[in-house]
Formats: sequence, C-alpha cells, structure tokens
Amino acid sequence: MIQKLNSVGIALKHVETRPDKAHPGELEILAQIETRKPLLMEVLDHLIADKIDRIEIKSSEKDNTITSSKNVASEENIWIPTHVSDLDKCGHVVVKYEPTEDPKHPGFGDESYITRRAELNSIANNWKFGDQMPDIEYLPEENETWKISYLKLKELRESHTCEQYQRNIKQMEDIGLITAEKIPSLQAIDKYLRAKTGFQLRPCGGLLSARDFLASLAFRVFQTTLYTRHHSKPNHCPEPDLIHEILGHTPMFADPIVAEFSQEVGLLSIGASDEQIELLSTLYWFIIEFGLCEEDGKLKAIGAGLISAFGELQHACSDVPAHAPFDPYVTAVQKYEDSDYQPLYFVAKSMSDAMTKLRKYALDFDRQLINNIQNKI
Ligand SMILES: [Fe+2]
Repeated sequence: MIQKLNSVGIALKHVETRPDKAHPGELEILAQIETRKPLLMEVLDHLIADKIDRIEIKSSEKDNTITSSKNVASEENIWIPTHVSDLDKCGHVVVKYEPTEDPKHPGFGDESYITRRAELNSIANNWKFGDQMPDIEYLPEENETWKISYLKLKELRESHTCEQYQRNIKQMEDIGLITAEKIPSLQAIDKYLRAKTGFQLRPCGGLLSARDFLASLAFRVFQTTLYTRHHSKPNHCPEPDLIHEILGHTPMFADPIVAEFSQEVGLLSIGASDEQIELLSTLYWFIIEFGLCEEDGKLKAIGAGLISAFGELQHACSDVPAHAPFDPYVTAVQKYEDSDYQPLYFVAKSMSDAMTKLRKYALDFDRQLINNIQNKI
C-alpha cells in the first residue's frame, strides 16, 4: 500500500495496523495522508485491486479540498517548481461552485452541459508540458453564448475599462484573433501572447488552488479553463470559464506592465508559506481580478473578473460600493467576497503605480520568505 501511495506522489503521514474487531481474522489499517480528491480516486482503484476490500475515507477539510503534500511548503516539505514543465504538477483544482454540486450554478441539473464540461476538463487534465494548446471545435450553442457575452461587454468597454485593456483587445480584434462570431482559437491566442509578452497558456480543469495558479504566473504561464458558462446565463458565471479567461485576462496579459506585475506576484509565491500564499492571492484578487484604476477622474476596470462580468463591472465603477486606494499592505489582508459583488474595491492610480507599490511590498515579503525557508531547512 505504501508503495502504491508513493508511486502517485501521496505522502503517508501516519499508519497503524490492528486486528479488525468487526471482522475477526482481518486487519484494519488506518492511514493518514494529505492529498487531493482526483489523486486519491486514482490510487483507490489500485488499492482495491490489491486485496483491500473495504475503504473508508474521512476528510479533515470542511470544503473537501485536500492538498497534495508535495505541493505545500509545509514545515517538512518545501517543493519548488524550477522549470516550466514542473507545472504539470500544478493542476490542483478547488471544488467550489461546480454544476454537479451547487444548485446555484446555472448549469446545475443540465446533464449535457455537465458532460461537456467534464469532457473539456478531461482534455485539460491530460495535457502535459510540450503539448500544443488543444484545438477545440466549440459547439454552436457555446459559440452563441460567447457572442452574446462578448457583444454585451463591448457596450461597456469604452466607458468602464482601462486604457490598457481597450488598446490590447482592439489589437487582438484588428488582426481577427477575437471576433464576435466564434470562440477564438486558444492555439492562436497562445502564439500571440508568447510573441507579445512571453506569456503562454496551459489548460486547467477548473478553479485552481491559489498556490498552483500563482506558481504558474511565476513562469509567465496562464492556466485557462476550456469550458464555457451555461447558455442560460451568458452574462454571469460563478466560476472561471473560457469567456472570463479570453475576454478578461488575455488582453491584459498582452500588456507588458500587467504581465510583469503578474509574474512578480507569482515569483513571490514560490516557496511561500500557506499564510503568505493567502496574502498574495488576496493581492492578486483585488488587482488582477477586481482592480480599478483612475483615468481622467473616472473609475475604470483593470481586473479580469470585472471586465468579463457585465453586472459587476457597472456596480464596481458606480458610487454604490466603497473604494480605497491600492496599498499592498492594506489590500493583502482585506477579506474578499467570492460569492457576490465586492463591497469594497481598490483603486490604483495606474498599473505602473500599482507595480511600484508592489515592488516595495515585495522587498519586505521576500525578507520574511527567506527567513521562513531558512528556519525550515
Ligand atoms: Fe480570473
């Protein structure tokens, strides 16, 4: 059993063997491991084939999100990706807002949507470094959802989004990379970003753990989902989807300053403790996902979560929510809302200003990080 667990990278934290009182003559084995559900399911098949006939699983985490010990800078084990190919081990998905489990998900109960989403996630999960981005033939209804969402968001582009976004998406439209008619080719967007800022795409099967997502940014890799939102709600999706990734993120990753900002946040995450990952992912959340900036005295969106969400984009730029100046020391510890509109948004003077502030913050952060690592080695 230990060999089987080790062979898939699951570390055994504790094991006990004792006579099974309920089944005389048999042994009961208690094994404590840290892993994530897909990996556990994979090893279970092997264990059952290995004459272990009853398995009971007890999760110690409320949200059922279990993290691979290989991927956590725990006191015993700091794993650091050193090459972009190491990101093959950084595809851990957080189970949240799934159409299979959440009645509030617009796709809940729609079997054909759930099957299609699973099919696309399977392509993403089997993808390895060196493979080409998948060339997916999207279905007519998926292209229709894209079109509705794209055209609706375009109405707000000039009045509600920052200059960088407008300039970069226009360039992508001008060369025919982004059109209303169909979901753009991910291969073509990958090629475009590589040439523009060195960013590259790799597919992922859902909402990634903050650690994995940030580690990818350190290598200028953006992990993108492949499925689209449910057709019944073209202007809303409770989880990241391809429309959010393409319309919200890719034009911003085509911008040199945003690309640099994202990579610097990613680099800070390498080897960071869980508490530090929380700070960095909060920072990322409030700037790259839900950040605003000031342009000519008006609030404009720089965050992909706003740019790709018609309702929240209007809300964020209105007088309804609170607004505070972006300050990494304050922003990194602000609680955020991931199931509704934010009650508070942070406003950068510009992306360059946000970058200058991040770099000052990074100096302090790096010092703490080095101390942490030295104490653990
Ligand atoms: Fe995002």
